[in-house]
Amino acid sequence: MHILIIGTGYVGLVAGACFAEMGHYVTCLDIDEAKIKDLQEGIIPIFEPGLKDLVVRNTTAGRLRFTTTYSSPGEICFLAVPTPESADGSVNLSYLEKAVKQLAPTITGPYIIVNKSTVPIGTAAQVTEWVADCFTERGVSFSYDVVSNPEFLKEGNAISDFMKPDRIIIGTNNTHSAKVLRSLYAPFNLNNERIILMDVLSAEMTKYAANAMLATRISFMNELSSLCEELGADITAVRKGIGSDRRIGSDFLYPGCGYGGSCFPKDIKALTHTAKRHNLSLSILEAVDAVNHNQKKLLFKKIAAYFGQLKDKKIAIWGLSFKPETDDMREATSLVLIKELYKAGAHLRLFDPVSMDKAKKLITDPVVWCQNELEASEGADAIVLVTEWKQFRFVNFTEVKKKMNHLAFFDGRNQYNPEEMRANGFYYYSIGRR
Ligand SMILES: NC(=O)c1ccc[n+]([C@@H]2O[C@H](COP(=O)([O-])OP(=O)(O)OC[C@H]3O[C@@H](n4cnc5c(N)ncnc54)[C@H](O)[C@@H]3O)[C@@H](O)[C@H]2O)c1
Repeated sequence: MHILIIGTGYVGLVAGACFAEMGHYVTCLDIDEAKIKDLQEGIIPIFEPGLKDLVVRNTTAGRLRFTTTYSSPGEICFLAVPTPESADGSVNLSYLEKAVKQLAPTITGPYIIVNKSTVPIGTAAQVTEWVADCFTERGVSFSYDVVSNPEFLKEGNAISDFMKPDRIIIGTNNTHSAKVLRSLYAPFNLNNERIILMDVLSAEMTKYAANAMLATRISFMNELSSLCEELGADITAVRKGIGSDRRIGSDFLYPGCGYGGSCFPKDIKALTHTAKRHNLSLSILEAVDAVNHNQKKLLFKKIAAYFGQLKDKKIAIWGLSFKPETDDMREATSLVLIKELYKAGAHLRLFDPVSMDKAKKLITDPVVWCQNELEASEGADAIVLVTEWKQFRFVNFTEVKKKMNHLAFFDGRNQYNPEEMRANGFYYYSIGRR
């Protein structure tokens, strides 16, 4: 089948490469000329484990191509463009609108538009109208359908998530579209039935509901962490204690210094905004967002409380991306922390294994960019672990200590054993563990 994918970012590029790997012919389209040029030359614009091999193999095999020119070579296209947050918390649909309005004039027969971007409930109907307006203007009347097929991949594990999804949500009332989507996804659905067919509105809602539930678990644990610290309890023990209950399960119960990324923060706000427009208030989700907002400031508060005065203190920051195994810096906790520390007069030494290039574009305050965690620790009064990259798990602390000026350690992801760190001579602080 020939597939067009509009938007060649974390979602579009992974989806395109995975569909091509399964034998489909895929055209990935993007308005970013530099990105498309890089991809045509085999340069991958994002860090995603396994993606380069997949892109190069399928490009060489002639199943994957990249373009900036709008056309509709097959009968199906996927929209994977950004849907960022607007100033009022609503979703900015301008990228989606532009994409649909550029696509519609190129359609020359029956067509299926599949929305993979995360969009407010009701957006498929809006897309249907944009296409109808264009067809009326053109004086054509091809049959078409707008399907919701939200994406659930996780950056850092995107290929595996796409290849072996927990579920494939297909939202459509049209039997032909359902049949085409089923056939397209058949190779990803061989071992057991993963396709869940539903109406469009429920599919759009499912994506928000999933992210809202996951963010709720994180904020819940973060809130309990603060209480644990106050009372002298240990959130790690509590997590194990509740996670062993099959009704609860142990995933997504890790406390930390706040969630970030391009999805949870904006999707929670979008859902609460949608509810408000319908005179409903989602008070649980409003609290989830508020707890996370505070949690992102927690490390700074701990560091400031420890030192009292931060002027001229040297602080090393290990990890900048919003989570490990990705270079994505969108809404990363490190950005909040760095701003606060810099304002308080601290000197910052930063290191991340892969996101340094992206971080340099966002962090404009004067800081020292380091080659590794050891270099970042040079002369440091404190180390702050913000992103739990694997390479930070077994650090040679004897070497790290030799570099440091003072042995304070703030662990934003509970990566280390408090007793061991204290035995190692550190003044060690983590989340929800006294
Ligand atoms: N990143 C994730 O982990 C993830 C997971 C699930 C769902 N989503 C959702 O998927 C959507 C895309 O997210 P992303 O992270 O891939 O975004 P991204 O910013 O990485 O990529 C989007 C791409 O779309 C391109 N684009 C913008 N306007 C365009 C247009 N008119 N025509 C063609 N290309 C255009 C941009 O240049 C960019 O390359 C969002 O709605 C997001 O919420 C993201």
